[in-house]
Amino acid sequence: MDKLLISGGIPLEGEIRISGAKNAALPVLIASLLTDQNLVVSNVPHLQDVTTTLELLGHLGVRIEVDDKLAIDVNAAELTSHRAPYELVRTMRASVLVLGPLLTRFGEAEVSLPGGCAIGSRPVDLHIQGFEMMGAQVKVEGGYIRASIPAGRLKGCRIVFDTVTVTGTENLMMAAVLADGRTVLENAAREPEVVDLAKCLVAMGARINGAGTSQIEIEGVARLSGACHRVAPDRIEAGTYLAAAAATGGQIQLNGIETNLLDAVLVKLDAMGVSIRVDQDTIALSVDGCRLKAVDLTTQPFPGFPTDLQAQFILLNSIARGTAAVTETIFESRFMHVQELQRMGADIELRGNTALVRGVKNLSGAQVMATDLRASACLVLAGLAAKGQTVVDRIYHIDRGYDCIEEKLAQCGARIQRISSSRYPHAAVHTS
Ligand code: UD1
Repeated sequence: MDKLLISGGIPLEGEIRISGAKNAALPVLIASLLTDQNLVVSNVPHLQDVTTTLELLGHLGVRIEVDDKLAIDVNAAELTSHRAPYELVRTMRASVLVLGPLLTRFGEAEVSLPGGCAIGSRPVDLHIQGFEMMGAQVKVEGGYIRASIPAGRLKGCRIVFDTVTVTGTENLMMAAVLADGRTVLENAAREPEVVDLAKCLVAMGARINGAGTSQIEIEGVARLSGACHRVAPDRIEAGTYLAAAAATGGQIQLNGIETNLLDAVLVKLDAMGVSIRVDQDTIALSVDGCRLKAVDLTTQPFPGFPTDLQAQFILLNSIARGTAAVTETIFESRFMHVQELQRMGADIELRGNTALVRGVKNLSGAQVMATDLRASACLVLAGLAAKGQTVVDRIYHIDRGYDCIEEKLAQCGARIQRISSSRYPHAAVHTS
């Protein structure tokens, strides 16, 4: 299993180009299942989750080519299977997104239940309820969701989500684009990745209004065509590097980012006392030598503070002046990183879904273990900020969601090195 070896205490300085968003690239690639024509997707990040998605599409019979500009050209004209097997779904929860497109285009689909994961139970009941309301017959048996459409075609309807769900909104939106009539999704997720998927679907000929608001209206069409789509930049990757620069007292410029996607994060960084300069598609952050101030925060669906940056901001608070309460409202059990930070000297007390973080002056390097994707990022940042050497184990989690993380950090002066070890086989992968 690969590890990252980090010598901490060096302020990051330099520029980083932000990659395409993982959480946008996956549903957009999966949207290729909705048409028999070519979908060409560019700005796709190099990530394990993208590889898994392409493996899953390949398993279904999708033809995949990479063109000379590294865009991925996918064609689902002739599928050989409508079944997403456990081996692929268990490594990546977003695989459940094939359910909507397969069902609406072919009238049947079978997808393994994702199962538990490192950050809570994460059910898919709202996806299933939505398909049933649109006329699908759904059975859950033998660990698989088996869905079919007795009437031949899904029927548009009004669906009110009980909880805001990102992939639930995306799954139902993809099902509705080829359904008969009009579908209205209420309490829909407003995340930018939902908007990016909607843009791609509209380019393919779908009729969608309101993506980015909590009410999305979709008028079903008979068929979709091919399109070219460029994946939007990754706001979570951007927020992670901003936190890395803040944690090390450095200065960094991020390029190729949609700055308005990070409002809730920039407000917190500003309250922590760092300087931020926002330009058209760049954000520059610098720390003027003072210690960061601790800042309370609560995770919320977009446009609130993202749960995917909660761990990184617990790290910032753990070395800040004062005490902060960090409350997680989206996922249960998303504090696995706390135990590891405590091993590096952080003073954090868990009270239900709130972490009470009392800032300490310094963390000290230690051997720590990554438990999920964003927790791993938090531990890398902790290693960069700490005194001495840190070894982050089980970094296959990081490779699922961060494009070239060591290279990007090293070009800003970080002393970070991957230690490959072929002595151990890869352990079971948890999803996040
Ligand atoms: C997506 C993101 C993930 C991010 C999360 C929240 C992708 C591939 N992943 O995950 O990075 O952390 O949004 O912003 O885009 N829920 C139910 N029933 C359902 C569906 C969800 O109870 O049928 C609950 C979940 O358990 C959770 C909450 O709703 O408590 C939000 O989950 P959801 O938005 O669905 O997360 P994902 O789409 O899996």
